[in-house]
Amino acid sequence: MVPRVPREPGYIIRPATLADAPALQRHCFPTQSVEDVANYLGWCLRQAEKGRLARLVAEVGGEAIANAQLTLHGEVAEIGSLVVAEGHRRRGIGTALIAALADFACERGAQVLEIGVRPDDGRVRALYTRLGFVPHRQVEVNFVPGGRVLYLRRTISTEGAGSTHFTRGGAS
Ligand SMILES: CC(C)(COP(=O)(O)OP(=O)(O)OC[C@H]1O[C@@H](n2cnc3c(N)ncnc32)[C@H](O)[C@@H]1OP(=O)(O)O)[C@@H](O)C(=O)NCCC(=O)NCCS
Repeated sequence: MVPRVPREPGYIIRPATLADAPALQRHCFPTQSVEDVANYLGWCLRQAEKGRLARLVAEVGGEAIANAQLTLHGEVAEIGSLVVAEGHRRRGIGTALIAALADFACERGAQVLEIGVRPDDGRVRALYTRLGFVPHRQVEVNFVPGGRVLYLRRTISTEGAGSTHFTRGGAS
């Protein structure tokens, strides 16, 4: 299991628990019901127990205000559900969540990190590009506006956990 990792004053990154559902619904998924958020979170936590997935939250003032997950597909580990509550953006929390998931993926032996983005979402693409992700493939889907997702990939360092930290302006 991913340990509680203090990152910067003001927030910590830790594994999600079912008790985070109401705060995550309020801060990250306001268009969904608490019940739907709790149901999906519960499914994710069961997958996490089986070692197939990691779900992390960032906590500020005792409340989960951001979350992200990592799904393991053999040597490829996919980051998804990355959301930071609007009032907490641009403090490095998104980058810290990606870095923590990269460490987890490295520990689990994954070779490649993958993340999907809407091709026209220039700001998010710029963030991922700064973190070392490069375009891999584009697929047509029916679950996002625009109907396409661009998957970006980044090689995971083989030097071991802790070597995958990201910094603003580039990836290690
Ligand atoms: C994308 C997101 C997770 C970034 O989280 P974050 O905590 O702000 O990320 P960081 O502080 O580590 O990095 C901020 C960078 O993210 C980028 N960014 C992307 N979308 C942004 C947004 N809506 N607001 C602010 N920054 C955004 C910017 O390039 C910014 O860099 P800058 O500060 O140099 O301008 C967050 O903006 C978010 O939750 N957006 C809505 C959900 C979403 O689009 N998720 C990604 C799906 S692929």
